[in-house]
Parts: sequence; C-alpha cells; structure tokens
Amino acid sequence: MTHGGGPQGLSMYKIVIINAKGGSGKSTVAINLASYYAARAFRPALMDLDPQASATRWLSKRPEQRPAIYGIPAFRRDLNVTASWQTRVPQAINRLIVDTPAAMDPLRMADAVRGADAILVPILPSDIDVHAATRTIRDLLTIARIDRKQNGLAIIANRVRINTLSYQALMRFLETMDIPIVATLRDTQNYVQAADRGIGIHEMKTRLAKEETQEWGSLIQWLEARRARAMQGQLGTISNEAG
Ligand SMILES: Nc1ncnc2c1ncn2[C@@H]1O[C@H](COP(=O)(O)OP(=O)(O)OP(=O)(O)O)[C@@H](O)[C@H]1O
Ligand SMILES: [Mg+2]
Repeated sequence: MTHGGGPQGLSMYKIVIINAKGGSGKSTVAINLASYYAARAFRPALMDLDPQASATRWLSKRPEQRPAIYGIPAFRRDLNVTASWQTRVPQAINRLIVDTPAAMDPLRMADAVRGADAILVPILPSDIDVHAATRTIRDLLTIARIDRKQNGLAIIANRVRINTLSYQALMRFLETMDIPIVATLRDTQNYVQAADRGIGIHEMKTRLAKEETQEWGSLIQWLEARRARAMQGQLGTISNEAG
C-alpha cells in the first residue's frame, strides 16, 4: 500500500487539516485529533508537512506513559533517503492525520490532500479569516479538484464567539457553499496548556476540559460515520469480487 492509502486503503484513514491562512488552528486540530485517537486505542500517525514543525515539536514533548502517536516529520528533506521512504506510513497505522503549513500554493495543496478520506478546514470567525478561507476552499475545489462529498470536505469553526457578526457571516458563507460545519470549538487556554504538556484536551482531567471534549463529539462522530460507510462500501466490493 502506498502512503496516503486514500479510499483504497482498507486499514488507513487519511485526515488532512488545511487552510492557507496562518494561525487558524490547523496544528491545534491535528494534535488534538491524534491525541483523541491515541487515547481511544486507535493507532494514529501524525504527519507534519510544516517546516515550522509545531506538530512535531508537540510530539517530542509527549510524556512516555501516554499512548503512542507515530510521528512523520515529512517536511524534513534527508538527502540519504528517498522522499517516499521518509513519508512512509507503517502498515499498523489506522488513522493518519496530516498537519499542513500556512500559505501553501494551490498545487502543493493538491499534493497534500491527495487520497484524503476527510479534509478539515479550521476557520476563525474574523472577516479576514473568513475571506482567506473562502479562497482556500475555492482553490481546493477548482485547482486541487477535490470532490466535496467524496473527499469529505468539512469546516471546523474555531475560537468562536457565537454572537459576533463575523461568526454569522461565516455561517452564511458556509451555507451557500453547502459545506458542513462539523465542529464549533470555543476559545480556551486549555488548548494551549494541553499542547505545552504534549497532550490533547481529551487527555486532560475530565473536570477541566468537559465542555471542550463535548465540542469534539460531533467531529469524531462525523469522521467515524464516514469511515464506517467507506468500510461497508469496500467490504461490499470485496465480497462481490470473491463471489
Ligand atoms: N480554540 C482555541 N482556543 C485557544 N487558543 C487556540 C485555539 N485554537 C488555536 N489556538 C492557539 O492559536 C495559535 C494558533 O493555532 P495553531 O498553531 O493551531 O494554528 P495553525 O493554523 O496551525 O497556524 P500556522 O498556520 O502558523 O501553522 C496557537 O497558539 C494555538 O494554541
Ligand atoms: Mg500549524
């Protein structure tokens, strides 16, 4: 199986977090998703395409007693090994989470989302951010030629204060694009504090991050429902071939 697995890979589920706008919460979503899957005994890998290496640095802080997350620092270019060897995903991995850098040009975006089973775009509810995200989404649809249903394009509204005009503008925009909002995450220092310790909010003491973990429920549900449907489709194909 090649890296990226995509809809063909039976065991691996590839989730790409992307938004050309800097600071929208890509790394925060990526590391918390990895931490969630690790805590629930999945076998996650965290691929880091960003030379800023936020996800890789977080992983290096991860306490040894926490469930393992396999790190793939794909931004590194080691001349002694081939690129495909460097981004190789072990067979045992069943959730591949890809963190991407800001300011990627559309062709690199196309590369990053190839074979994705889900593409998550975190957006901050400011005018500037909504405008920038519109562009990312347009590039994904037109240049990267992703299919919003097939590739599971979805939005995460991040650091949201619901009663703001920008938030309402964001909602209207997404409605017109027919792209689902699969989670709404509040602005809270818990993300910062967990990240400092190499863990995610799902691994904090329950009483400290109760609301945060609840907010993630809808995202996880959406991801895993897609996954279950894809697996069912695939098993159907296999049994047809066998019969
Ligand atoms: N929901 C949130 N509540 C509080 N702080 C947040 C939240 N989401 C992100 N942050 C903080 O905002 C900053 C930017 O987030 P993050 O690094 O995840 O964005 P990014 O899109 O990965 O940025 P870049 O484009 O530079 O890679 C970080 O300091 C992060 O801890
Ligand atoms: Mg980042």
